[in-house]
Amino acid sequence: MEKKENMQNSEFHEFFVDELKDIYWAENHLAKALPKMQKAATSPELAQAFEKHTKETEGHIKTLEQVFELLGKKAEEKKCDAMDGLLKEANSIIDDTEKDTFVRDAGLILAAQKVEHYEIATYGTLRIFARYLKNQQVVKLLEQTLQNEKDTDVTLTELAEGSINKKAASE
Ligand SMILES: [Fe+2]
Ligand SMILES: [Fe+2]
Repeated sequence: MEKKENMQNSEFHEFFVDELKDIYWAENHLAKALPKMQKAATSPELAQAFEKHTKETEGHIKTLEQVFELLGKKAEEKKCDAMDGLLKEANSIIDDTEKDTFVRDAGLILAAQKVEHYEIATYGTLRIFARYLKNQQVVKLLEQTLQNEKDTDVTLTELAEGSINKKAASE
């Protein structure tokens, strides 16, 4: 049997596109959830970080649309149960913490970092899959988003360790 050197039209390719639809759903829903997290934040710096990442997340959506286009596929969403759960968790943290407290901010950072780590895992694997498509442009686009998710995670750690956790501990 002839060995397939290209992933195009293979089951692996279908699987890859399905996973792109999954993260596309996740990014679209995250873009709607982040402004709510921004509004709930106590610290102006954290609110600003959420505002910045909302814009970046809108960029991730556009980037995924470019990827679909490069693959000749329609940009479609497929419900991502993991992101759905993570966003529900963010909502319950808002419900369970008092407004204008740093405990709430510490909780919001926890929720946001779980989201970022999920995205890092997803893009980390997808860009490895994309290498088999032999489409350097797709690899590059996914790596670009991956780097932004990693930078966001670092920013959140800096905010937590900079002052928010200390303030939360002394409330
Ligand atoms: Fe993202
Ligand atoms: Fe993100």
